[in-house]
Amino acid sequence: MAEFLLPKGSNPNKGKPRKFAAPEGTKNAKPFKIYRYDPDSGENPRYDTYEVDLDTCGPMVLDALIKIKGEQDSSLTFRRSCREGICGSCSMNIDGTNTLACTKAIEDVKGEVKITPLPHMDVIKDLVPDFTHFYAQYASIEPWLKTKTPAPSGKERLQSPDDRGKLDGLYECILCACCSTACPSYWWNSDRFLGPAILLQAYRWLNDSRDEYAGERLDELEDPFRLYRCHTIMNCANVCPKGLNPAKAIAEIKKLAVERAV
Ligand code: SF4
Ligand code: SF4
Ligand code: FES
Repeated sequence: MAEFLLPKGSNPNKGKPRKFAAPEGTKNAKPFKIYRYDPDSGENPRYDTYEVDLDTCGPMVLDALIKIKGEQDSSLTFRRSCREGICGSCSMNIDGTNTLACTKAIEDVKGEVKITPLPHMDVIKDLVPDFTHFYAQYASIEPWLKTKTPAPSGKERLQSPDDRGKLDGLYECILCACCSTACPSYWWNSDRFLGPAILLQAYRWLNDSRDEYAGERLDELEDPFRLYRCHTIMNCANVCPKGLNPAKAIAEIKKLAVERAV
């Protein structure tokens, strides 16, 4: 796996790998080569290999991880919750591509299944990246409805079906960060570039007919780094497990910024 697809400053080939064989008599074993790192241990990162009996395993990569943790190595650490592509917790790099372990079918990976944490993030342990900075960037766009006038009915802000439709392709984002951690511009400038996930979320609020802070939101984004580090490489749209297109949302924000400037 290319170095740039690994966590920051990482060389898992340095650590001493361990191998866990499938139970005797297993007829349908598949190897899972998994990145292991525990910063508290003082040891180098390494890859451990687990042979999983596919005849007694569910169909998804997350099923295999849960089976490994339950039956072979309880120290393996990863995030998961919904197991149906809704919570965004199980994002990781599988077979060289950022995706969700719970929606990635094992049979789609030929041969060994190589799993690492999302690239270019600090690692808390094994497959768990540190999302602190990512969430701080999310908070920075103030991802909630902001208004200046009272609701017309005094109760709620109505939205026409057409206006509601403008949020399609945006509201489905589950903040898994697969897109941002596949974006080369985000790898090199994540301290200042907001990245595709957060910018798609920013556009979701800019595009909401009920929000009354579009001008201020655009002013906040108007910065050589926050918005303008996107070079339309399209990795983000290619990897999004929800089929969303952050690059298009970024282009729409740029258009709004130009319109505001003239
Ligand atoms: S299109 Fe923009 S945001 Fe998406 S991967 Fe490329 S540079 Fe990053
Ligand atoms: S746009 Fe897609 S890949 Fe990016 S955070 Fe949202 S759901 Fe995940
Ligand atoms: S476990 Fe929720 S998205 Fe995979």
